[in-house]
Amino acid sequence: MDFTNKNVVITGGSTGIGFATAKAFINAGASVWITSRSADNLQKAATKINSPKLKTVVSDTSSLEGIAVLEKAVAESGNKVDVLFLNAGIATFAPIEQTSEADFDAQFNTNVKGYFFTLQKLIPHLANGASVLFTSSTVATASQMYGSVYSATKGAVNKIAQVAANELADRKIRVNIVSPGPTQTEGFDKAVPDDDVKKQFATTTALQRMGNPDEIANTVLFLTSDKASFITGTELLVDGGYIGYTLK
Ligand SMILES: NC(=O)c1ccc[n+]([C@@H]2O[C@H](COP(=O)([O-])OP(=O)(O)OC[C@H]3O[C@@H](n4cnc5c(N)ncnc54)[C@H](OP(=O)(O)O)[C@@H]3O)[C@@H](O)[C@H]2O)c1
Repeated sequence: MDFTNKNVVITGGSTGIGFATAKAFINAGASVWITSRSADNLQKAATKINSPKLKTVVSDTSSLEGIAVLEKAVAESGNKVDVLFLNAGIATFAPIEQTSEADFDAQFNTNVKGYFFTLQKLIPHLANGASVLFTSSTVATASQMYGSVYSATKGAVNKIAQVAANELADRKIRVNIVSPGPTQTEGFDKAVPDDDVKKQFATTTALQRMGNPDEIANTVLFLTSDKASFITGTELLVDGGYIGYTLK
């Protein structure tokens, strides 16, 4: 897939799926913006990718002030955005009785409010015919124990994306959803630090392994490319074949 002369914005591109996707877009010829909350993490990512086509911006997606920083950077570049990949997300897992208000708010502010208002603020900067992709999760539809709040954020994301696909269709902007299953990333390691539990996650897929971020990136490039020109409002699961959770 060729993204030469295309401008791509990826929220949450310092590690994991966003980082792998940034690398893949750069290799396909695009100019790429990545965001994160941390200048240090962005610097590390930029050093690894090592391309003049990569630009970084510190922008906390959970606040409107942070999103405004990204919008300003895009506006000042003078370029329209061809691909917007809304990906910055966090997860904490706990039984409902033990979930704190702080964890609830942090996940909804990042995973839902962040996606919604980044889309809203960048709509005027999208090229006609652009592509918007939301990172959701298999748990938007599967009912994984201890993931009530995280799953609810992803369910909300799916609905926002589906409505956006209808609202933006008159500008030929396609909006889709990629839903990874368990994928080996820095974020996954943080959310699931226990090695035994990690092994159990691998058994929830038909392929009996976790995914790697490059496998998600391949799907992101397909869905946002012209090869997917008749696909909009769709969720594509990249989960190795979900067969159910047996976590205790
Ligand atoms: N890994 C999985 O198994 C899995 C499965 C399904 C869905 N997902 C989804 O995939 C997406 C990426 O997750 P990942 O596994 O790649 O995790 P990750 O390695 O932790 O990457 C998350 C990225 O988001 C950034 N981020 C987090 N909060 C942010 C905020 N408030 N503002 C700006 N950037 C922020 C992080 O950067 P900083 O920490 O530097 O700010 C990082 O670049 C998330 O939406 C996640 O829910 C992951």
